Amino acid sequence: MEVSNELVLTIEHKLQQALYPKRYVHTLGVAYLSASLAMCHGTSHRDALIAGLLHDCAKNHPEDFMLSECLRLNIELSECEKQIPELIHAPYGSYLAQTEYGIHQDDILLAIRNHTLGRPNMTPIEQIVYLADYFEPERTHQTSPSLDEIRKIAFQNLDMATYLVSKNSIHYFETTGKNADPMTYRVFEYYKDKIQKGE
Ligand SMILES: [Fe+2]
Ligand SMILES: [Fe+2]
Repeated sequence: MEVSNELVLTIEHKLQQALYPKRYVHTLGVAYLSASLAMCHGTSHRDALIAGLLHDCAKNHPEDFMLSECLRLNIELSECEKQIPELIHAPYGSYLAQTEYGIHQDDILLAIRNHTLGRPNMTPIEQIVYLADYFEPERTHQTSPSLDEIRKIAFQNLDMATYLVSKNSIHYFETTGKNADPMTYRVFEYYKDKIQKGE
C-alpha cells in the first residue's frame, strides 16, 4: 500500500485530537526520527513515519479498558504485559492502527506492537521505532554512553544501539531494586550475541 500525503496528514490530525499535547509532541519526535533512521538504513521512510506516528495511538485509553478489550478480542499478551498495565497500549495500539486508522501493513503493525519491549531479531522498522521511542529529541534520561552518543550510534549501527538501549533499560530497573521484564533481557542477550559474532 502506498502511504499518501493525505494519509499522513489525516493520521497527524486525528492524533492531535486524541493525544495530550506532550504525548503528541513526543509522537512527532518519534515519527520524524524514525523516518530519518529509515532513510539512513535503506528502509521505507514513509512506513517508518506511519509506525512512529501511530506507536502511542492508544495512549489516551484507560489501561483497564485496553486490557479487557485485548482479552475480549483474543489479542495475544505476554505475562509481563498482563501484569504491567502501561505496556498494554502497544498491542492495543496495533489493533487500533488497523481499525481506527486503516493501516494493514504487517511491518508497521509489528513495529507498533513491539515498540515498548522490543524482541529478538526485530525487523528494521520495529528496531527503528523501538529505538526512536527511547531517544527521540525530547527524551533527556541519563544513559551510558550518553543519549546523544547512542543517537549517533543508531545512525551507524541499529544493532549496537539496540544493545545499548536494552542494556540501559536493565541497568535502570536494577538501580531501582527491580528486575527488567524478561523480554528486555532476551533483547539484550540477542543483540549482544549478534554484535559479538559480527553478523
Ligand atoms: Fe509507548
Ligand atoms: Fe512513545
